[in-house]
Amino acid sequence: MLRDVQKKLIHSPYWPSSATLKHYIAGMLLSGAGDAIGFMWEFEYSGPAIHQAVKNLGGLKNITAKLPDWPVSDDTVLHLATAEALATGKEGEQILHELARHYVKGMRDMTGRAPGGTTITGASQLRPEDKDGYRIPYNPGSGGCGAAMRTMCIGLRYPKPEQLSTLVAVAVEAGRMTHNHPTGFLGGVASALFAAYAIQRRPIMTWGLGLVKEACPVAREFVKTAGYAVSKTERDWGYFTDKWEWYLKRRGLSSGTGPVVWPEQYGPAERDEEYNSFSWSGWGGSSGHDAPMIALDALLGAGSDWEKLMDRVAFHGGDSDSTAVIACCCWGLLYGTEGVPECNYSSLEYRDRLENSAKKLYDLSH
Ligand code: AR6
Ligand code: MG
Repeated sequence: MLRDVQKKLIHSPYWPSSATLKHYIAGMLLSGAGDAIGFMWEFEYSGPAIHQAVKNLGGLKNITAKLPDWPVSDDTVLHLATAEALATGKEGEQILHELARHYVKGMRDMTGRAPGGTTITGASQLRPEDKDGYRIPYNPGSGGCGAAMRTMCIGLRYPKPEQLSTLVAVAVEAGRMTHNHPTGFLGGVASALFAAYAIQRRPIMTWGLGLVKEACPVAREFVKTAGYAVSKTERDWGYFTDKWEWYLKRRGLSSGTGPVVWPEQYGPAERDEEYNSFSWSGWGGSSGHDAPMIALDALLGAGSDWEKLMDRVAFHGGDSDSTAVIACCCWGLLYGTEGVPECNYSSLEYRDRLENSAKKLYDLSH
């Protein structure tokens, strides 16, 4: 069954057989565009109200995402920090210091970008030039989406199935540089993994299962082997995987084959309610587990339609920039910029940095 789905998708005219440089560039660029557009309504609690506001602007096709009105948020600044650290080509212990260095530097570029509290605290504890200075103490309150929003590019650096253990190790360590809690850093693993799956052209219906059954066990073993904060991490491990198993069951995806089960009505108002039910404390997409969950939900529902994707992932009453930054990266890796209004990305802040890091990551991964 799974093989049939895979075959059908690979032979579909809309599904080119592998990601090219063009897809890498689209992944980085559209993640920034989704962030900037979603950021406009990050703190608006009603999806229907956001849909109305977009309509009043003349629709998504009329949004020119550029300064001063449409800056990228902390999500993209820190995604760029991750990408530019990885683009140095460093590995092992060296890449961890490089990541920490870039996070500390990125935090100096936060005026008007609304960074999260956990990220601010975590990054202030980093000492990139010291031995083990990329480690911060365990923090039970750090289950937020601050790691998940900035790690997609790890999937661009390590996209191959045989690189899974490296992808997971780098994502765990990068994530716990600010979010030393499994719900936080496993969110980082999910975003990196989904980007790699997009590059691999793995059917989207299997992504959640791959996360729970393939990547999470690798992450758990990695934490034990790394030998840092093991017992507390073990204690708090279950929430992330339980919630993901719950979601996969709800969507009929527990075995990765579908068909996807959707709520009968699933417009903006129903999606707000549904995303709330994914969440930890009633704000959909603000935690490590549910930001990638909403991203996946939107990718499953939107297919290759950019406008539908944005409706679902950027125009909802939750943490809309963070869910968009993840989904739009995967969408760009899958479909390029096909069907995206040019004004959504052509004058985007940091466009050059996003494109340059995409090129470097493409070269390093090929
Ligand atoms: N499990 C699940 N969720 C939790 C937990 C936990 N143990 N602890 C806290 N939360 P915050 P960040 C939730 O604000 O992660 C930017 O604006 C808690 O409900 O410290 O550093 C981005 O665009 C809280 O609301 O942020 C994102 O919006 C949420 O984690 C945000 O900052 C976010 O924690 C991400 O950065
Ligand atoms: Mg943000």
